[in-house]
Parts: sequence; structure tokens; C-alpha cells
Amino acid sequence: MCLPEKKIMDKFIVEGGNRLEGELEISGAKNAALPMMAASILTTGVNKFSGIPQVRDVNTMLHLLNHLGGRTEDFNEDRLLFDTTHINNYEASYDLVSTMRASCLVLGPLLARLGRAKVSLPGGCAIGARPLDLHIRGLELMGAKIRLEQGYIYGEVKRLRGTRYYFDTVSVTGTANLLMAATLAEGETILENVAKEPEVVFLADVLNQCGAKIKGQGTDTLVIQGVQSLEPIDCHIFPDRIEAGTYMIASAITGGNVKINNCLPRQVETLTLKLRQAGMIVEETETSVRVISDGSFNGVNIKTQPYPGFATDLQAQFMALMTLAQGQSIILETIFENRFMHAAELKRMGADITLQGRTAIVNGVKRLSGAPLMATDLRASASLVLAALAAEGESVISRVYHIDRGYFNIEEKLYRLGAKIRRKK
Ligand code: UD1
Repeated sequence: MCLPEKKIMDKFIVEGGNRLEGELEISGAKNAALPMMAASILTTGVNKFSGIPQVRDVNTMLHLLNHLGGRTEDFNEDRLLFDTTHINNYEASYDLVSTMRASCLVLGPLLARLGRAKVSLPGGCAIGARPLDLHIRGLELMGAKIRLEQGYIYGEVKRLRGTRYYFDTVSVTGTANLLMAATLAEGETILENVAKEPEVVFLADVLNQCGAKIKGQGTDTLVIQGVQSLEPIDCHIFPDRIEAGTYMIASAITGGNVKINNCLPRQVETLTLKLRQAGMIVEETETSVRVISDGSFNGVNIKTQPYPGFATDLQAQFMALMTLAQGQSIILETIFENRFMHAAELKRMGADITLQGRTAIVNGVKRLSGAPLMATDLRASASLVLAALAAEGESVISRVYHIDRGYFNIEEKLYRLGAKIRRKK
């Protein structure tokens, strides 16, 4: 069973100015769930997942995996049983890859399992060019014959073989793709300058439980000894650090007091330090964080970097917060060249932001005013919701289908904390 699609024309109506208070639960991490689901292609049998977030990207990945010949046995709440016994199709079409770039995660697993893949090139997206050259070069070094034709990557190989590969740029999806491919390759693969994101470490750990031989997760170098086959996956997806971070900022921007449960504080530590620097109180337990704010805070600078640096996926939300800070904040985006789409919308609410290439200079203002707003990508949409919560008057945010890609029931979670937000179908 697939999740019901939320309507594409849905809008959020937000009446700003309410302090958020209370507790909420974080859902499973979308960016951990998607690679794990793609990794199921490497196995034959029924894969079991729990902690799967009910968001649109998960739906899209499931759709793609079913299209490849897999079978959804059961999908209920956060539990998914997925049978990969009959995976026999090797095509990921443009329709699927263009709506969700993570669809390209099937490339490595398809080559490893079927020796063939036809995966659409994702093309540019709202936040930057985002090529796949690093994935392709790595797979070629593993012996795959790759050609690009009519917008598709065609790959063919008898059996992938181990190699030594250095990533020129740290790439999360690139690391995941080559890691998955290497688990079933012949011999040893050494991947250098890899991503150290918790989602990559988790992928490696779970694949090891399935019989893979991976060492070095969480460091710059992964060493993978290829094996002949992997057992089906049985895993529980950990909480979403970006969702947690978004609600931490929601509490901060509304002068709130919110306890965020089912969260791993270690994974949001960089944000915690920045919030404390801005003047917020952040209390941590093993599995929760509480952010207490009196609504007055200072401007602080951030620079997005690969984990454990400040996450690019929280940059837009942090910028929304900084629009209301006392003083100036300099925001440097080092991961993507065009990830400031939200700045123009925030300016329409009265924010004072100047863009210079990959740098945003934000001078805090006393108030934002509600406005009709347009969501442009997943995290930019979240930043507009946060700004609207703190603004004076009503905001109408359209194209919230972007937000449905990655946040489970955001309007309900915020409403229970005291926000005046509703979805208009
Ligand atoms: C990145 C983020 C991740 C975030 C995701 C979605 C980092 C290191 N990664 O992951 O936290 O969840 O975006 O917002 O912060 N690149 C190439 N060639 C390639 C692949 C990537 O040049 O083949 C470049 C990209 O243009 C970009 C950087 O590497 O500058 C990372 O890009 P990409 O792999 O697309 O992002 P993800 O690793 O998916």
C-alpha cells in the first residue's frame, strides 16, 4: 500500500505571532530511509524497515522500487515490508528522477545486482546544478561501461570489481551509491574523502549486518571487501536530524519553549552551539532537546559544510531566524551554488538580506510581516513556514508539496504546539 498523495495545489495559511510551547516527536530520517530502501535492491527476499517517515519522497522511492520489480508486501504506519526477489527491471525514468534526485541511488545497486542500469540524469534543480559525474567516474573505475544518451545514464558490467577512488568533493549520495555498488563487487574497494554523515554510517552498519564487509564508516576512508550476496535488511531508521533542527529553530524564532523528543542531540550539535551563541537556552537529554527562547537573540555567522559542520539542509531555516536577530549575521553556503531562493521571499516579508555569490548578509529587523509566499524547494519551504510563524499577520504559503516531500504532518505538529496554521486544499 502506498501513501495517499497530498494535493499539489495545497497551501498553508499561517497566522503569525504565537509562542510555541509543548513537546513533539520527530519522525524517522528521510535521508537515511531513502538509501536504505535503495540498498534493498542488493538483496533477495523480504526486507523489513521500521521508523520509515510517511513523506512524499519515501512514496516516490517505493514507486520506483516497485517499478523495478520489487513488491510492497505491507506498508503500515512506519513499517514497511518489501520483497526484492523479483527485481528484474533496470530503468529509473525521468519522471521519477526529476521529482526526487535521490532516485539516482538505485544506479549503483542495479549495476551490482543486474549488471545493467538505465537511470535518468537528474538535471539542474532549484538549489544548483548537482551533477552525477563523481558517481559515474567511480562506477567506471569499478569496470562499468557507462554512456550518456538522451538524458539517460546507461551502465553495463559483467561484475563490478574493486577499485581505489578519491572523491574530489564530499558527496553524500555519491558515497552511498559507490558504497552500495562495492558491497557486491569482486575484491576490495577503497573510497577516499567520503561523506561522514550519520546516514552514510548507518547505511554501512546495516549493510554489514546483512553480510557486507565494510570498514571505516565515520572516517574519511571506506574499505569494502566485496561479497557474493547479502541477506535482506532488517533495520529501524533513526530520527531525522533536519526535522529536529527545524523544530528547534521554530521554538527559537517564536520565543518558545519546545521539547523535541525522539531526537539524537549529538547529530544536531552544530546547530545547538549556534543557537546558544545567539542567546537561546538548549537543554539536552540522551534522546531529546529543549529550546527555550525569550524571542530576543543575536546575529551569529554560519558556514555550511559536510557533517559534522553546519548542515546545508538547515541553512534556510537558520536564515529565517537571523532575519529577526539583533545585529548582523553572515551566512556562507559552501555546498550548493544557488541555495538562497528563500532570501527573495523573506525579503518580501520585510527582511534585510543582501546576497553576494554564496554569501548572504542578514541585518536583523524588528518585525516581519505576513505575505503571500511561494515555496521553491524542500528546506526553503520550511524556512518560509518558520518566518510566517514569527511574522505579524497572515501568510499564505503556496506550493507546499515541496514541504510534503520531507516533513511528516508539519502543520499538525506545529498546531499542537500552539501555532495557528492550517492546510487549505
Ligand atoms: C547534499 C548534502 C546533504 C543534503 C543533501 C540535500 C553535504 C555534503 N551534502 O547531499 O547533507 O541532505 O545535499 O540537500 O552537505 N557534486 C558533484 N558531482 C557529483 C555529486 C556531487 O560535483 O557527482 C557536488 C554538488 O554539486 C555539491 C556537492 O558535490 O556541490 C554535494 O552534492 P550532492 O552529492 O548532490 O549532494 P548530496 O551528497 O546529495
